[in-house]
Amino acid sequence: SKYTWVDKDTCIACGACGATAPDIYDYDDEGLAEVIFDGDANHGVKAIPEDMHEDMIDACDGCPTDSIIIADEPFNKEG
Ligand code: F3S
Repeated sequence: SKYTWVDKDTCIACGACGATAPDIYDYDDEGLAEVIFDGDANHGVKAIPEDMHEDMIDACDGCPTDSIIIADEPFNKEG
């Protein structure tokens, strides 16, 4: 399985990821990206379905600050 998480410490709120993969990434009140798929709340614990992997990878590749992280295991981040 694939999991994804946004590092808000390096996100510059450029807005690309939510445009590329709106079912996975959205923005908080400050415009910083976070994983919203299936109520993930940027914990990085919800497995992203295979048919969404292409969008997820495109968003990752398109982030100018490499703030979108993808891994094979859950992140279990606080948010
Ligand atoms: Fe932030 Fe990168 Fe998305 S800078 S808004 S995580 S494309």
